[in-house]
Amino acid sequence: MQFIIILLLFVIGVLMNLVNSERYIVGEGYGWRPAPYPTYYEDWATTAKLKPGDQLEFRFQKPEDLLEIGKYNYFACNSNSPSRQYKDSPAIAFMLVPGDYYFKSSNNTNCINGQKLYVNVAAPTEDDSDDKI
Ligand SMILES: *[C@@H]1O[C@H](CO)[C@@H](O)[C@H](O)[C@H]1NC(C)=O
Repeated sequence: MQFIIILLLFVIGVLMNLVNSERYIVGEGYGWRPAPYPTYYEDWATTAKLKPGDQLEFRFQKPEDLLEIGKYNYFACNSNSPSRQYKDSPAIAFMLVPGDYYFKSSNNTNCINGQKLYVNVAAPTEDDSDDKI
């Protein structure tokens, strides 16, 4: 019985996060393209205050694409074994749990020139839950 209550509270928590979720368009009007300067997406990431349940929307044109990758491949601009590949735009990445999320273009030249994104999704704090209720 206790287990079911804990499970229910967890599910309610996840649903609350989705209800309050926000969708951020990566690069806004510029979209997901070869970066105009190397820190372009890094700079953009500092403007997004992400919380669990939020989504990132990547808008691009083929042959551009999007890979979700790990930390090592982010820094190395390596496309091997992505956790996910998005081929169609707009690509919506859901960030349900707190933590670090890494994305790159599968074009490594463009990655080296700055077309990659790292974001951190912060764990909810007491202040956040006051805002919600
Ligand atoms: C990567 O993108 C550049 C343009 O930014 C293009 O010239 C090059 O051919 C692309 N490489 C691959 C492997 O698609």
